[in-house]
Amino acid sequence: MKKLLLHLDTDPVPSTFDQAVVYDAGVDNVIAFGGATRDNVTSHVHGMIFTRGGKNLKNSAIFIGGSNVPATELVGKAVKKAFFGPVRVSVMLDPNGSNTTAAAIARKVMTNYDIKGKNVVIIGAGPVGQRTALYLLQEGAAQVILTSRSIARTKVITDHLKEAYDVDVIPAETRSDEAITKLLANAHVAIASGPAGVCVVPQSAWKNSETLEIIADVNAVPPLGVEAIEVMDNGTEKEGVRCYGAIAIGNFKMKVHRGAIASLFDSNDQFLDETTIYDIARKIDSQ
Ligand SMILES: NC(=O)c1ccc[n+]([C@@H]2O[C@H](COP(=O)([O-])OP(=O)(O)OC[C@H]3O[C@@H](n4cnc5c(N)ncnc54)[C@H](OP(=O)(O)O)[C@@H]3O)[C@@H](O)[C@H]2O)c1
Repeated sequence: MKKLLLHLDTDPVPSTFDQAVVYDAGVDNVIAFGGATRDNVTSHVHGMIFTRGGKNLKNSAIFIGGSNVPATELVGKAVKKAFFGPVRVSVMLDPNGSNTTAAAIARKVMTNYDIKGKNVVIIGAGPVGQRTALYLLQEGAAQVILTSRSIARTKVITDHLKEAYDVDVIPAETRSDEAITKLLANAHVAIASGPAGVCVVPQSAWKNSETLEIIADVNAVPPLGVEAIEVMDNGTEKEGVRCYGAIAIGNFKMKVHRGAIASLFDSNDQFLDETTIYDIARKIDSQ
């Protein structure tokens, strides 16, 4: 029986990237809709759950994506609501690739490295930075500081992380090179998850840190997020610091993304989101 994937995207045009990945993960056909909202997805979900019964339901699945994370979460809730008991299909949520990217960052950082008791600074408090903070705290980091250019904005985010996941992330502001230098002076791990095409960590800030052991950057668009790190760095030692660049992290992210999509078709009752995709990354990493 063919593997069918319903792709619901909250952006007007469904992501080409997300559709390309699902074919590489072994899906036979994608049925894609843009402009998905919590109010317009029920009939699409019924189209998936009422066409294949019993054991065959596992050959259909749903992917929810888009650049607006809260909107995708609402769509996820609406999709769940449209199911009837066991009459359901597996679902994956990966808005803007945030879950798979953050899982890949966390696994790269922990390659032959014990995160327990370490101080982490994450520069960039978007969905990727937020989820990375969650995974590293769950893995035993002593503290995680998350930054944006506004302490007020970061505080709203860290309050949300506390409420949603019961984790204590420390909010901070990094709107100058001096502020980053000061934060990195006591950090063991630094992660740049700022916007594409913006250097958020100058070389002087990380080179002068006497504690820094690992630095990772997910911005692949020049100028890169960390000065003097290259996209292909994959555990490369520079100034005594182990460096991971955006393509090295991106390559593992692709494995996690494809692996998560493929696993949707193992059963009809999975819900892969920011809390469960990390488990898949850990499993792939251990193979
Ligand atoms: N390599 C891969 O496979 C891959 C996959 C997906 C995403 N990415 C990359 O991951 C990065 C993060 O993605 P995202 O979706 O989380 O991004 P996002 O939503 O745009 O978040 C960026 C964050 O950085 C903050 N920021 C902006 N300028 C800053 C500065 N100068 N110093 C400190 N913080 C700053 C922003 O907050 P304020 O505006 O409030 O300061 C915001 O919190 C992007 O570069 C994206 O391209 C990589």
